[in-house]
Amino acid sequence: MANVLLVPYPCQSHINPMLQFAKRLASKGVPAALVVTRFIARTVRFDAGPMRVESIFDGHDEGGLPSAARVGEYVERLESSGSASLAALIEEGHFTHVVYDSFMHWVARTAWGLGLPTVPFSTQSCAASTVYYYINSGLLDAPPPGDNAGVRSEPFAGLPGLERWEFPSFVFHDAPYPALTAPALAQFADRDVGDWVLVNSFDELEYEVLDGLKRHFKVRTIGPCVPLPAADDSGDVDRFTYGANLLDPEDTCIKWLDARSSRSVVYVSFGSNASIGASQMEELARGLLAAGKQFLWVVRAGEEAQLPRHLLDAATASGDALVVRWSPQLDVLAHRAVGCFVTHCGWNSTLEALGFRVPMAALPLWTDQPINARLIEEAWGAGVRARRDASAGVFPRGEIEQCARAVMEDEDGRAAARRWSEAARAAVAPGGSSDQNLDEFVDYPRASAG
Ligand code: UDX
Repeated sequence: MANVLLVPYPCQSHINPMLQFAKRLASKGVPAALVVTRFIARTVRFDAGPMRVESIFDGHDEGGLPSAARVGEYVERLESSGSASLAALIEEGHFTHVVYDSFMHWVARTAWGLGLPTVPFSTQSCAASTVYYYINSGLLDAPPPGDNAGVRSEPFAGLPGLERWEFPSFVFHDAPYPALTAPALAQFADRDVGDWVLVNSFDELEYEVLDGLKRHFKVRTIGPCVPLPAADDSGDVDRFTYGANLLDPEDTCIKWLDARSSRSVVYVSFGSNASIGASQMEELARGLLAAGKQFLWVVRAGEEAQLPRHLLDAATASGDALVVRWSPQLDVLAHRAVGCFVTHCGWNSTLEALGFRVPMAALPLWTDQPINARLIEEAWGAGVRARRDASAGVFPRGEIEQCARAVMEDEDGRAAARRWSEAARAAVAPGGSSDQNLDEFVDYPRASAG
């Protein structure tokens, strides 16, 4: 009997899709345990059904969640402390397979040392995965350093030509977090028997690029790993959750949305990691106010000091704006009042917006976000990209105002988001592309576990 150990990178955006994947495995009768750090296991309430939650030591027991500023140091410590405690966990448990975050190759090495087969799970798009794989395999050169704005690579592997800034930033050693370059590039370099690679995407969304990747290894989409709403016209008002919040969502924002009319609100969030800085916050505040739409803005506790409150006082006092430290994002996106998502285009946020039919104003910052933004605008027609002012290093207020207005008024973008939502639901429904891939995957651990 298969018994799968799931090892996500210990942060919200990597735990969320693994949790949803675990629920789908459970629905197919395959038990799974999720591994988090001791700190997360101790402080977070998991609503994960029959799935067990196990913990390993990340060398930071009292330190809370990894801070973005010290991610390099964190990643090293996680590996050195985590591999020993993961080995102990594997030896104690009765696991037959390990599914691990493809950024954490050390997990595979640890499992192999104990004779367990492993399968990498990518929490990013097939597009980003392709870029990493192609560069690492010498099939594609990363663009040279320097300012080459307007110069595009040749189209490759089902992807359009990309400007330097559109490449996932981890491919550049001179980008922030150089400690992540090697793990990002090597994600699919050294795989286990079976050559499975699971990706949190779905065939219909990325069929061209997926076709290219399938020539190299057995990549299978099993997404979107997002709890999806029911069909468009169901009038469904369910609450949605992955099953674990690392930060406390402020439910007051749902009441605030309840009092707003349909599609009147711009929702703004930059995910669980990014810090946009004081200048970008000011541009954002001014752009949103100038757009003349009500808005709900997530500013995490660590970023609050940079928020230009004086600019927002009147709008928050009148109820035209609300700032929260963390939102129940799925419920916000599901809310009828939300008409536009100003997003950094993290892969989860992108899939969630498509799943919940919300068109996007894209303000990508780093990692895979620029390539996601390009696809949102060009390939999927579900939003528009704001243009960054390269010399100022920010998305200027005028761009933000224009993009928010355009998305709120763009019926085509809304229709595209609705179509992608349908396609996403079809992919994970019984017999859909991702569901079939999951069945195929489930047979693999069953067969090889005996
Ligand atoms: C990062 C990268 O940015 C992303 O591109 C990569 O693919 C995964 O790692 P993050 O920046 O946190 O993730 O963004 P995103 O992938 O969008 O994930 C954020 C998650 O936090 C989403 O699942 C979202 O629903 C959740 N969230 C965000 C909340 O629950 N509440 C909030 O207020 C904001």
